[in-house]
Amino acid sequence: MNRNPPDLVYLSRIRTHAMNQYFTALINQRTSRRTFRPGKLPGHLTEAVSQLLAAHGTGPLGTLIPFRLIDRQDLDNQQLKLGTYGFIQGARYFIAGFVAPASTAFLDYGYCLERIILELTGLGLGTCWLGGTFDRGEFSKAMRLPENQTIPAVTPVGYPTSLRGLGDRIIRLSAGSANRLSWKNLFFEHDTGHPLDPAHSAAHHDQLEAVRLAPSASNKQPWRIFLDQGQYHFSLCRTPGYRNKFLATDLQMVDIGIAMCHWDLAGSEKGLPTRWSVSKPAGFPDEPEYIITANTD
Ligand SMILES: Cc1cc2nc3c(=O)[nH]c(=O)nc-3n(C[C@H](O)[C@H](O)[C@H](O)COP(=O)(O)O)c2cc1C
Repeated sequence: MNRNPPDLVYLSRIRTHAMNQYFTALINQRTSRRTFRPGKLPGHLTEAVSQLLAAHGTGPLGTLIPFRLIDRQDLDNQQLKLGTYGFIQGARYFIAGFVAPASTAFLDYGYCLERIILELTGLGLGTCWLGGTFDRGEFSKAMRLPENQTIPAVTPVGYPTSLRGLGDRIIRLSAGSANRLSWKNLFFEHDTGHPLDPAHSAAHHDQLEAVRLAPSASNKQPWRIFLDQGQYHFSLCRTPGYRNKFLATDLQMVDIGIAMCHWDLAGSEKGLPTRWSVSKPAGFPDEPEYIITANTD
C-alpha cells in the first residue's frame, strides 16, 4: 500500500482519467501530518477550503455543522494560543466545527470532516484529526462557541513539511499509526465467532477495505461490521475508559462516522449507493454496541 504524501500531478491525473477511483486513492494516500511549513496559504486555496467547508456541512443523519477555517494570524485570534500541547508544529490554519452533543451529531461530524479531509488531501494539503490534544477553551473562543454546543475535534491544515518532525514520528510509533487490524478482526457474519467470508461480500470488498484503512482516535479502529442478509450492521467496540477520558466529545462515535464516510465514498465509485438506517436487529448482542445499518439493496 502506497502511503507516501500525495503527489499533485498523480492526483490530478487520476482525477481526470479515473474519477471512479479518486477517493479510494485518497483514502490510501492520507496519513496524519503534524509538521507544517509556516506561512500564508495562497488566496485561491483558502477560498477553495472555505468552499469545501460550506459544501460538506450536512451529515447523512441530517446534522448541520458550521465549519470554519481559523487563521491564527487573524486579528481576533492573535491573543489566542490555539494550542495543541506541542503535538502540531508550524500550523497557521485550523478547521473546526461544532454540534449539540448527541450520538448522531458525532457520527455526522466524523463523516463530514473526514470528507473534507480527503478533499484537502487531494489538494496536496496535510491534516491531522485532533480530538484530544487541542486547547478546547481557546478554540471555543475562536469559534465563538454557542452555549450547549461542543467542538468534537479539529484539524490543522496546510502544506506539510516533506519530512515528518521527530514529535510526529514518535506519536506515530506509539499509536502504531501505520498498522491496521486485519479483516478477520473487523468483519463478521452474524456474530464475532464467524469472520466474514470475503466471497460473501465480494461486491462490497472495496467499501470494507476503505473502512479498514480509516483513521481513528489513538488508532483504536473500534468499528466492527456484521453482514446479515445483505445488510451491513456497523457496531462499536469501545475501548474501556476512553469515553470518560474526553467528556466533551465521543471520539469513538466520531470514528464510526469516519468509517461511514469511507464506506459511502468507496461505494459511490462502484455505483453502489447506501441507505443508512438505525434499527437494531432483534437478537443483536449488546457488545459490540450496535450503531447503524448500511442497507445496500
Ligand atoms: C477522532 C480522532 C481523534 C484523533 N485525535 C488525535 C489527537 O488528539 N492527537 C493526535 O496527535 N492524533 C489524533 N488522531 C490521529 C490518530 O492518532 C491517527 O489517525 C491514527 O494513529 C492513524 O494514523 P493515520 O491518521 O496516519 O492513518 C485522531 C484521529 C481521529 C480519527
